[in-house]
Amino acid sequence: MNATIDFDRYDHVRPIRWTGETLALLDQRQLPFAVEYVACRGSDEVAEAIHALTVRGAPAIGIAAAWGVVLGTRAIDAADGAEAARKLEPAMQRLNAARPTAVNLAWALARMRRVLGEAGPDWRDVIEREARAIETEDLAANRHMGALGAGLIAPGSGVLTHCNTGSLATAGFGTALGVIRAGVAAGRIERVFAGETRPWNQGARLTVWELQQDAIDATLIADAAASHLMKTGQVQWVVVGADRICANGDTANKIGTYQLAIAARHHGVKFMVVAPSSTVDMATASGDLIEIEERDPAELLAFRGERTVAEGVRAWNPVFDVTPHDLIDAIVTENGVVERPDAVTMRVAFPA
Ligand code: MRU
Repeated sequence: MNATIDFDRYDHVRPIRWTGETLALLDQRQLPFAVEYVACRGSDEVAEAIHALTVRGAPAIGIAAAWGVVLGTRAIDAADGAEAARKLEPAMQRLNAARPTAVNLAWALARMRRVLGEAGPDWRDVIEREARAIETEDLAANRHMGALGAGLIAPGSGVLTHCNTGSLATAGFGTALGVIRAGVAAGRIERVFAGETRPWNQGARLTVWELQQDAIDATLIADAAASHLMKTGQVQWVVVGADRICANGDTANKIGTYQLAIAARHHGVKFMVVAPSSTVDMATASGDLIEIEERDPAELLAFRGERTVAEGVRAWNPVFDVTPHDLIDAIVTENGVVERPDAVTMRVAFPA
């Protein structure tokens, strides 16, 4: 299907720019009304940007962390990579602690740590090349997954997506949104719906804006409208991303994904998870073992800093949930499609 997709036509947004001196991050807290990049000059600034959701989305935070390690090297001197790795370890730990659920963060840091440990006197060049490779490989994986995932969708279909899994959440093109880009480009997807994704509104603030930049027609729905949408027959697939895919196929993703999977199964709508292999965590046996990030209840109690709930009310704000593998019809990575994922099909696709 690759030959039929004009990738560049449908992919204009870039959230991460390495300038050679600083890491420029498109500030996702300000979108869609301000398109502004903030400059990070050190690894702790990158860690704070990841924690504050200036940059967000599992692959994007892995890429940002890799560049954060490069920025961290500015503060140290070392004769070789092994010495540099020892000196950088505290900064890497702080980057790793910025968010717990998306495995891409730990994956990117492990990759940086490994190449650094093996590097000689040219270690500065080596890790800058590695950060660049993590970024360019992500874009290539997304484009390949886009073609693979779109191939599963019958012409004339409608799709529903959740959160933001697009260029904003990756090096570019996106995971689930990459499948949607490819499906629209190939004429397979006729209707795109995006859930608003309360409480941080990634769908409402980011996804429909991002699709608008690429002239892809999309309709926003309230999260609570999803089951009703499925009942009307307007969508044939729910297509979502992932923050961590376990060895048995259980998948952590933005809060609300699990209830979409339940509703999809009830209505005979298919459910697709799209993520690069850097999101697959074969060391975690099942979803019960994933740490679910809980964020400040203020995200629920206020909107853009303005309180919307009576004073004194308590809130609980888990920001991810786990979809059990038996509710997933297909997991798409750049390695291929795993249909009906379970411990056996995952082991075949991702051998040790
Ligand atoms: O809290 P966020 O906005 O970082 O959560 C993002 C998601 O849950 C995405 O679906 C996931 O990271 C995949 S992004 C390609």
